[in-house]
This record gives sequence, structure tokens and C-alpha cells, in this order.
Amino acid sequence: MSKNSDLQKRRDAAIARGISNQLPVFVARARNAEIWDVEGRRYVDFASGIAVVNTGHLHPRVQAAVAAQLDAFSHTCFMVTPYAVAVELAERLNKLAPGPTAKKSIFVTTGAEAVENAIKIARAHTGRAGVIAFGGGFHGRTFMAMALTGKVAPYKATFGPFPAEIYHAPFPIAYHGVSTRDSLDALEHIFKYDIEPTRVAAIIVEPVLGEGGFYIAPPEFLQALRKLCDQHGIVLVIDEIQTGFARTGRMFAIEYAGIEPDIMTMAKSLAGGFPLAAVVGKAAIMDAAAPGGLGGTYAGSPIACAAALAVLDVIESEKLCDSAVRIGRHMVERLRALAKSTHAIGEVRGLGAMVAVEVVKRSSTREPDPDLTKAIVKQAAAKGLVLLSCGIYGNVIRFLAPLTAPDEIISEGLGSFEESVVELTSTSLTPAVNL
Ligand SMILES: Cc1ncc(COP(=O)(O)O)c(C=O)c1O
Repeated sequence: MSKNSDLQKRRDAAIARGISNQLPVFVARARNAEIWDVEGRRYVDFASGIAVVNTGHLHPRVQAAVAAQLDAFSHTCFMVTPYAVAVELAERLNKLAPGPTAKKSIFVTTGAEAVENAIKIARAHTGRAGVIAFGGGFHGRTFMAMALTGKVAPYKATFGPFPAEIYHAPFPIAYHGVSTRDSLDALEHIFKYDIEPTRVAAIIVEPVLGEGGFYIAPPEFLQALRKLCDQHGIVLVIDEIQTGFARTGRMFAIEYAGIEPDIMTMAKSLAGGFPLAAVVGKAAIMDAAAPGGLGGTYAGSPIACAAALAVLDVIESEKLCDSAVRIGRHMVERLRALAKSTHAIGEVRGLGAMVAVEVVKRSSTREPDPDLTKAIVKQAAAKGLVLLSCGIYGNVIRFLAPLTAPDEIISEGLGSFEESVVELTSTSLTPAVNL
């Protein structure tokens, strides 16, 4: 039997250190919301491979769709000899994307690539160069995506220079004293001090910051961005890579703001664990790039497209938007009960099943505690719970359980989290609210 410790030694010797390693746990198998490591230990999965398996690990319908596609063919390159699964998926995404305007799609392989292509399309459509993004936003690790990302360490440090004409405004985070008005004023300052709006091709924003700490953009902020973009002919790009596919209780988080994006980027849970990303937008904008300007050898892999069609079926037939709301409500209830008994949790927030706690030195000062955050994640892992941290200050713990997770697994995971917090702080646990 392989041992985690042996594999960890081999991993460290074989893999460059730039790839982070949250837990020294090597996976043997995973189903729905559970993972088993190579030593046979079981874990409850509250990470979902960073928001990728909203439909759970190896959902039987996804598995069957992939197996059927593998029987037919695995790759021909969509740009050479196209295939129906990709066309069907584009048709479905075009219908699902919010708003009345006719949509078109392209497929690529990763979230960062979707972001790169969204900006390429926005530039081709407007003939402008500038792009505005937000502090704390995360858009990926390729050059444009990295430049748009609003966090230096560890994503940008040592990797510059970056593409030019990129500007950042603060994201509205009430908990840290930044209001919607502050963010909108900062955009006006960019237009006054840095670049005239008529040279801005795109504004890109996450409706809920993902890596940045699960801060939820107020609907009125997103509505104001829509207005600003309309006023100046700027393409509004909504990055739904982490928030998409029922995670927040709607198919896409932007639906809460009731606005129509010009372009959306999608990846992660789109294909339930197979590498697939999409750029979906208003047809007239999407058609701006000339033939051959977009694409990629693996862009729209038929296996990933088949998986994605099954994912969309599962979200619909199993009503996963409703599950996200239910899971999120229970999590927030229980975590708020825990927060009442400790100074270490400054805030519990969530949109659907995108739930987070802010770990602080004292709730009265809101001073971030990244060390305690790391310790809680480690302690929870020792109890068989996989959790992820995130946040501009590294002090947010996010809860991303598969939306197919049974109630008792959610309850078990929350119990392990509560115990970890209690053990690492002087908290006395108040009775938990049962699911
Ligand atoms: C909002 C957002 N955009 C883009 C990305 C980049 O996606 P990928 O890691 O697939 O390149 C991520 C990944 O975490 C993300 O959360």
C-alpha cells in the first residue's frame, strides 16, 4: 500500500514548489462528497476540487455520458472536424445565459483561458485597449488573467512585467469598510486620472469574489457597472468561473442583480471535473474576432462537452439550485451559532452554498488571523474534513460542498469544523442546530 508520507516525499522531489500543496493527502478514490486517500482514510469534501464538482465526484450520469463519448471518439479537434456535442452544449449555454439578447459561445480548456479570450473579444469588438478589474479579484494564472488579478502575493510577485493598460478599482467589501459608493468613485477616479472611458474595452468582475474571500458584490454595484458600461460603450465581462452552475442558488450569480452581461466566463463546475471552459456573450460581440483568431487544439474536448451536457441535466433534474440554497442556509445557521461563542469568527456570509467565515484575532477589531485560519484547515483535515482557505488577507475559510451532498455529510463536515475551532480557541460550543 502506498503511504501519504512516501508520496509526499516523491511529490516534493518531482513537482516544482510553485504548485501549492494544501494537504498531504493523496487521493485513491472519490464519490459524491467523499474522498478516500491511499491509506484508506475517508474525508468529507468541502472543497469540491475548488468548486468544480457541484454535481459531486463522478456523478453516475456524468460518468455514463463520458463513457459513451469515449466509445465514439475522444478527439478530432473542433476546429478541424467539429462534432454535435459541442454545438449542443453551446446552444444550451446560449439559452441559459441571462438576458434577452441572442448569444454565441466559444469553448476553451481552463478558466484563465476563458478570461484571456473574453478580453481578446472585447478588444476586437471595441477597438480599445484598456481593461478595468477589481482589487481582490482572481482571474487566473496566465499573463492577462494574472495581470487582471488583484492580489500580488502569491499570484503576481516575481512574474512581471504585465500587459499594459490594466487598472484596478477597489471591490466593495462592507466588512472591510469599502462601500459601493467608494468603488464607483474609484472608477470615476480611474477615468479622471488614468484612462478616458472611450479607451476602455472591458470591465471584468466576479459577482462574488472567489479566491479573494467570498465577498458578495451588492446588486446595486453590479447594476451601476452595467449602466457605466452602457454609457461608455464598455464591454461588461462577468466572471462566473467560481460562482456558476448552481453554486449560489441560481444557475449564475449575476441573476441576483437582474442585469444582462455582455460576456460571461465559465469553467470549473461546467463539466463536473473535466477540463472545459466557455466564453458566452452577446452574438454581435462574440463575432468580433476573425476566423482563426480564437480556439485551441483541445478547445471544446468532446469528452468534456459530453460531461457538461450531463452536468446541466443533473443540475436541472436534481434541482441543484434549490439544494444550494438549502445547504447554504443550514451552513450559515450553524456557523453563526458557532460565531456567537467565539471571538475568532468575525463574520459568516454566504450566497447559496458559497459560504465563508472570516477568521479574526478579535471580532471587535476584525483583524485577520491567517495563522489560525491555516491551523483550523489543518486540524479539520486531521478530523477527516477537506476545507480551503482564501481571502485577500488569507483569513477566510470557504465551504464548497458538492450540491449533491446528503444532509448527514454536510452535518458531519460542519461538526468537524466546529470541533476544530473549539480545540484551537477557548470557545465553548453552543448546541448545534440540526439539519
Ligand atoms: C473567478 C475565477 N476566474 C478564473 C479562474 C481561473 O480558472 P483556472 O484555474 O481554471 O484557470 C478562477 C480559478 O480559481 C476563478 O475562481
